Order: sequence, then C-alpha cells, then structure tokens
Amino acid sequence: MNIALITGASSGMGRDFARLLDKEGLDQLWVVARRENRLEELQEQLTTPVKVLAADLTKSEDLQRITELLASEKPRVKCLVNCAGFGKFGDYEEIALEHQMDMIDLNVKALVSVTQITLPYMSRGDRIIQLCSSSAFFPLPYLNVYASTKAFVQHYSYGLQEELKPRGITVTQVSPGWVQTEFFDGSQNDTSKHAPKKYSPMYSSMQVVQKAIKDAKKGKPVSVCGTFVKFHRLAGRFAPRWFMKAQWRSRLR
Ligand SMILES: NC(=O)c1ccc[n+]([C@@H]2O[C@H](COP(=O)([O-])OP(=O)(O)OC[C@H]3O[C@@H](n4cnc5c(N)ncnc54)[C@H](OP(=O)(O)O)[C@@H]3O)[C@@H](O)[C@H]2O)c1
Repeated sequence: MNIALITGASSGMGRDFARLLDKEGLDQLWVVARRENRLEELQEQLTTPVKVLAADLTKSEDLQRITELLASEKPRVKCLVNCAGFGKFGDYEEIALEHQMDMIDLNVKALVSVTQITLPYMSRGDRIIQLCSSSAFFPLPYLNVYASTKAFVQHYSYGLQEELKPRGITVTQVSPGWVQTEFFDGSQNDTSKHAPKKYSPMYSSMQVVQKAIKDAKKGKPVSVCGTFVKFHRLAGRFAPRWFMKAQWRSRLR
C-alpha cells in the first residue's frame, strides 16, 4: 500500500499538500493534526481514501499511536510532508516560556520524531518534504525562537539529505516567506510591540505547495518560491549580519 503521510493537514499548506497529493494515484493519504473535524472535512473532499489521524504531535502517546499504526499496516510511505508548526512574534519577555517550549516541541522535536518513525517505511525514489522557512536564513530578533527552530530544520534537512543518499530517498526543505494561512491567527501576541508593520510580499499557499512538489520531484534539497524570497536567501548567505538585522528591524512596528 503506497501512502503519503502529511502532518498539519487541517489547514494552510498541509491541507494544500493533501489536495495536490490526492492526484498522485496513491492508495491512501494519512493526514495528521489535532482538529479531527477539519481532517474529516478534507477526507470528504478528496478522491484518494484518507486515514484521519487526530494527534497532538507534542504528546509522546500520540506519536506512539502513529508508530504503532505504521508497524501494524506496514505501508510504503512514498511521500512524507512535515507541515505541522507554529510561530509567535515578541521578545523574550512577551512570549511565555511555555509557548517558547511548545514551538521547540512541535517545530523541532515532533518533526524529527515523525521523520524517524516513518523512515523504516520509505524506499528508493521516495520523498521527504520538511516545512522550513525564510526565517531560517539569518537570526531574527522578535521572532527569535521560531526562526531558531527553523534554522534547526534547515540544518537537519541538509544533513539528512546526505545521509539518505545511499537509500535513494530525497529530502526537500521548503522555505517560504509570508504565506496566507491560519499561521497568522496564532502568531501575534496582542501585546507584542515587535510584529512586522505589514506582511509583504504575501504568497498564496497553493503557489508555495505547487512549487514544493515540483522541486521535491526533481530531488532538489531546497524549494524557494518567489523572487523576493530567493533574494532574501542569497542576502542571508552573503550580506553582513548587522545589515540583515537592520533590514528586519526596519520592517517591524
Ligand atoms: N504561513 C507562513 O507565513 C509560513 C511561512 C514559512 C513557514 N511556515 C511553516 O509552514 C508550516 C505550515 O504552516 P501554515 O502556514 O500552513 O500554518 P497553519 O495554517 O496554521 O497550519 C499549521 C498546521 O499545524 C497543525 N498543528 C499545530 N499544532 C499542532 C500539534 N501540536 N500537533 C499536530 N498538529 C499541529 C495545525 O493543525 P491543528 O491546529 O488542527 O492541530 C495546522 O494543520 C509550519 O511549519 C510553519 O511554520 C509558514
């Protein structure tokens, strides 16, 4: 049984990945998120049979359930998409320690756990897509913990891509700029003095996901959508850190 496993499929880019992977002729799509009703709505809309896995990926018992399901059904995971993630704006005082830890638990620990438990079910030609972010390109004060989690994803994905070469499994990190999704519903502390003045340019989720799937099929290690973000990535590599920080600072409230 050939499947795709998609985390964060109840909204935004994860849901769009499910919609596009629906056209790939797979036997099943396994979709993961906490909001079961949203996953069931998605199930209704797709033609590929969908297995709804309501799970909080920061909870070890929920990860264990997915591990056991994989072990009992032994699917071939043709595509893994790690999309579950969230971010918060604010300085070190504004973001509660609990929320800082939650970001690390989901964006870093859950992503590594899901990758690790899925890898035994992947073979040559299969693809891993990791949702990273343009925030990984350089340190971002006031989005600091989130950006740091994505810097982890960037390094982890580059390293894993190399380790998986002998098995013929590709790893593509997707690094979007601002994307119109529910991400922004939870990202702003009401009290934050430091959120961006405006989110520009804003890309559509489908734009980013279409490009990501195309790039993953080519085995590209990185998928970047849009000229602005491509420039941003280059600048992150070659411009001095003080300059990039000043640029970022000028875009905040
Ligand atoms: N939007 C942007 O501007 C942007 C830019 C760069 C990178 N990204 C990254 O892209 C990825 C997708 O984000 P999005 O923009 O599509 O945001 P979104 O619409 O808010 O989607 C986030 C997804 O993560 C799931 N999720 C959150 N907490 C979870 C938990 N504890 N356990 C399991 N699932 C959980 C949510 O589902 P439930 O709430 O139902 O659990 C939802 O399906 C994230 O990794 C994000 O960091 C976003």
